[in-house]
Amino acid sequence: MTDTPLYTALLEHRQKNRASFHTPGHKNVPGALPPDLLSLDFTELPDTDSLFEAEGAILAAEQRAARLFGAKRTLFSAGGCTLCLQAMLYLAAPRGGTILFDRVLHRSVVHTMALLDITPVWILPRPTAGRGLPGRVDSRDVLSALREHPDAKAVFLTSPDYYGVLADIPAISAICREAGVPLLVDNAHGTHLAFLKKNLHPLFLGASATACSAHKTLPVLTGGAWLNLAEPSFVSDAKRAMALFGSTSPSYLVMASLDLARAWLEESGRAAFAALEDRVAAVRKLAARQGISAPEGDCDPVRLTLRTAEAGILGTDAAELLREHGVEPEYADAAQVVLIATPFNSESDFQRLETAIRALRPGKAIAEAAPALPALPPMLLTPRQALLSPAEELPLAAAVGRIAAETACPCPPGVPVVMPGEKITDEIADFLRGYGIFSLKVVK
Ligand SMILES: Cc1ncc(COP(=O)(O)O)c(C=O)c1O
Repeated sequence: MTDTPLYTALLEHRQKNRASFHTPGHKNVPGALPPDLLSLDFTELPDTDSLFEAEGAILAAEQRAARLFGAKRTLFSAGGCTLCLQAMLYLAAPRGGTILFDRVLHRSVVHTMALLDITPVWILPRPTAGRGLPGRVDSRDVLSALREHPDAKAVFLTSPDYYGVLADIPAISAICREAGVPLLVDNAHGTHLAFLKKNLHPLFLGASATACSAHKTLPVLTGGAWLNLAEPSFVSDAKRAMALFGSTSPSYLVMASLDLARAWLEESGRAAFAALEDRVAAVRKLAARQGISAPEGDCDPVRLTLRTAEAGILGTDAAELLREHGVEPEYADAAQVVLIATPFNSESDFQRLETAIRALRPGKAIAEAAPALPALPPMLLTPRQALLSPAEELPLAAAVGRIAAETACPCPPGVPVVMPGEKITDEIADFLRGYGIFSLKVVK
């Protein structure tokens, strides 16, 4: 067995022995999951139940997870948070319609708009988290969008975002309840929020449904996620909604890891995350002494977003230096480095990270005047019409006046300036050129 490019790449990466500050949350360490999982890679059998017709062991495991999260119903996904998002949007808008969306969202959500023929109305975040970050959707903007669009079937938010920035879920969920529309939350990065010193999980704070990418921050195999439902009217159709989009061969290993993670959370979750909060706070303090700040306002206490540009270091350069010190971050852009820490990071991982942070040489803040985001362009086609149409890639000069077939989301600050179906204006083309983006896919 020599001609195995992917398997070989994985072995070679493992050989580097880097401290993992990225997903998955189990950090590939012995003890996070049973070593004999391979021997449990079964399929639907009389003994093992069937995910989309669950009435035995899978249903029992889902019920235990629902109890843990205080949900009316929790459903397993072996197809990532993406499957949960697809099902969640189907439950709110099975035959399409208007939904109010946070402009900062994952591409799987845009693709689901196309699948379900959903028309988005955008709510832009306000830049309340500091320079280089998208910020937060403000409850006042949700209220006015709901007043302007009384036909909206739901409000959809991403919280926490990739950088750990949290929206004001209690205020926004109260507004949604008052208006009689469900609040759907993409909680991909926040499954663990229920186990912190203060429960910050959006379901606990009032969301109607949350899509939770368990594998990102918990000891769960990649692809394991939970859809948590508080809205009673979503419950009866929820399995059908998951089955509409899911593979008929969900991995039993992934599902077993969800069950094991739930049991681990019950036994050890709170203590483990309390210790992690303290450890991450110590890293933040060290970073602050180097002039490296964290996002401002309410944030996930265990997400480490190092805003290195504030200390004169490009995030991408800082990430390279971390790698030289044996630390693999989750993500970097010009303004910051994002690290995902979980209870499965060892003390030696944190010490390596601290050594790397000490080695960052702070300088004068990279004070790039953040260019003002261009105005939202007009939507000429729905996401469905744009994404399912033939497309061609054009240089920006030729793309002006045409309809985008893809999202352009320069980082920082990570707010999409154009989405599929929207007109590419001169202003947008100029903005994209400023980020070194010179071509875009457009509808043919
Ligand atoms: C905000 C957000 N939502 C959804 C997803 C999709 O999650 P998954 O990869 O588990 O399908 C991601 C993945 O990175 C994400 O960052």
